[in-house]
Amino acid sequence: MTEPRKILVTSALPYANGSIHLGHMVEYIQTDIWARFQRLRGNQCLYVCADDAHGSAIMLRAERQGITPEQLIDNVKREHSADFADFGVAFDNFHSTHAEENRELSRAIYLKLRENGHIATRPVTQYFDPDKQMFLADRFIKGTCPKCGSADQYGDNCEKCGATYAPTELKDPKSAISGATPVLRESEHFFFKLPDFAEMLKGWTRSGALQESVANKIAEWLDAGLQEWDISRDAPYFGFEIPDAPGKYFYVWLDAPIGYMASFKNLCDRRDDLDFDAYWNKDSTAELYHFIGKDIVNFHALFWPAMLEGAGYRKPTALSVHGFLTVDGQKMSKSRGTFIKARTYLDHLNPEYLRYYFAAKLSRHVEDIDLNLEDFVQKVNSDLVGKVVNIASRCAGFIHKGNAGLLVDAQAAPELEAAFRAAAPSIAEAYETRDFGRAMREIMALADRANAWIADKAPWSLAKQDGKADEVQAICAQGIELFRQLAILLKPVLPNLTAAAEAFLNVAPLTWADLDTRLANHQLNAFQPLLTRIEPAKVQTMIDASKEDLAAQAAPEPAGNGELTKAPLAETIDFDTFSKVDLRIALIEKAEFVEGADKLLRLTLDIGDAKRNVFSGIKSAYPEPSQLEGRLTLYVANLAPRKMKFGVSEGMVLAAGPGGSEIHLLSPDSGAKPGQRVM
Ligand code: MSP
Ligand code: ZN
Repeated sequence: MTEPRKILVTSALPYANGSIHLGHMVEYIQTDIWARFQRLRGNQCLYVCADDAHGSAIMLRAERQGITPEQLIDNVKREHSADFADFGVAFDNFHSTHAEENRELSRAIYLKLRENGHIATRPVTQYFDPDKQMFLADRFIKGTCPKCGSADQYGDNCEKCGATYAPTELKDPKSAISGATPVLRESEHFFFKLPDFAEMLKGWTRSGALQESVANKIAEWLDAGLQEWDISRDAPYFGFEIPDAPGKYFYVWLDAPIGYMASFKNLCDRRDDLDFDAYWNKDSTAELYHFIGKDIVNFHALFWPAMLEGAGYRKPTALSVHGFLTVDGQKMSKSRGTFIKARTYLDHLNPEYLRYYFAAKLSRHVEDIDLNLEDFVQKVNSDLVGKVVNIASRCAGFIHKGNAGLLVDAQAAPELEAAFRAAAPSIAEAYETRDFGRAMREIMALADRANAWIADKAPWSLAKQDGKADEVQAICAQGIELFRQLAILLKPVLPNLTAAAEAFLNVAPLTWADLDTRLANHQLNAFQPLLTRIEPAKVQTMIDASKEDLAAQAAPEPAGNGELTKAPLAETIDFDTFSKVDLRIALIEKAEFVEGADKLLRLTLDIGDAKRNVFSGIKSAYPEPSQLEGRLTLYVANLAPRKMKFGVSEGMVLAAGPGGSEIHLLSPDSGAKPGQRVM
């Protein structure tokens, strides 16, 4: 017996300012499968994560919602935790970067870096919003592209022509927060002297800690020469204040990776058997893995190991970098309904379908992975239901009917069973190296062989013949044993299916070591359907519901960037363009809740000579919809109808406000009549 390994594994900390979507789930499912595999093998594997709660985006979002950042991150943490739990992602701890442990560790690491001479300070000149009295990050500045002249481009790059530039190069810059013209202002910034670690990083990034393509990318950066990293932000900022520097805060990316340690520290404080230092000290023999997406490689392969080294901690054993999710071959899109939130998926489909599909698609390369919705339905139904579950459902009935659920002690296909056991090391190796796609292919090849063998033996025909009862029992007992082996092999991917299989098999929780045993003279429990087929209609409903989410979100934020009163004024349009909008007075005849929709009300509008049906995302402001009945409002009559899960929405009503309870439906002065054109 080899010693169990001590492993600490993390997924990137999701930002606390938005919902978890299926793109995120690639990573959390990938990490969870790997952690479950390690535990199944008898290793100690601890999986920690947290919400990434700091930064100006979170501060501004809380402000728009009229709540404190603490309230916002609490709400989001509850939502994220529920999403992960319902997808079977079994964290040992899910913490927050806005936590005492993280404040202390960030402070200690920073002081250590300063003491060791790795911190520099110097003035930086940046755009400052005179109305908001705050410095503006690049994405909070908008203006005209200096290269191609497109209006409304962000401070660092142009979406139209792809140019990258400094915010000071933008023409006609405006604060995206207040609309004010920003001014240049100087302030003192703190820097982490990354170049101090160039040699160490050259060694570490070639030590096998990185996938080859990642190591090559990093080598390009190392060859180009490293820059000092700006780690401070001026107040107002939601984060931790820098020691001995009032009004200066750690940049969110400084304390975010320290959040991995903080979450683990928080876990250790609750568990007697865990020792924080044994995992993080320089001489630690524990393994440390970070699973991340390809967009955040620089933070994890350069800044983070350098910070750890500079502060006297161990470095990660390895990073596991994955690509991005596309849906039907394209970037997730809100208008196509393919920007699917974790919760929307869970409202319609079984999480194990997606866990299996992602597993089948994942490799150890940094390639993007595609959720092809047709293939998803076909593959899950054919593999999980048609191959795996099918073995159990074909055999269970004969054992219950013919032998009262007792598995006989017979081995009808010893070579096949031996082949299953012989395949296990290769499958384990595929799991270990995160080549889940290969693991799934090899497991399904075994399932195919089991099905072919059962089909060849045809116990259903033997059962009709005299004197074949023992043979039928031997075949079916063999089938169940093969099914049990498959359940073990799939357990990291399908925790719920395996739990149901364990209940049916009437066995204790299966481990990898149980591949070396077999069931004989063993009583089964009643067979319950373990997994049902995906109904394609449910996938369509999920897509429609994702469009509904969008409609509900868009309603209170028409400018796309928050509070109407503060949104910068849009580009000028001529009168002809304006007059294309057919604005009418509408009478709200009926206002009612929509079953299954969180944010929508269904409005029946009288527009003079016609009735219109409109879904409007204003429920949060009008919890008693009947109060709207009899009211006049403004209505866009010629907006293209939109097909939603609940029906077709014909146009939209106009409202103002930041969202939540702060949405105000517009009304005309008294005397206006339904159907009148608004000019
Ligand atoms: N808060 C940072 C991570 C800090 S780690 C110290 C962050 N958060 S995130 O919410 O934007 O992303 C969390 C993880 O999800 C990242 O690893 C990111 O790469 C991954 N993904 C986000 N969108 C994704 C897809 N569309 N597809 C696959 N992974 C994606 O980055
Ligand atoms: Zn441009």
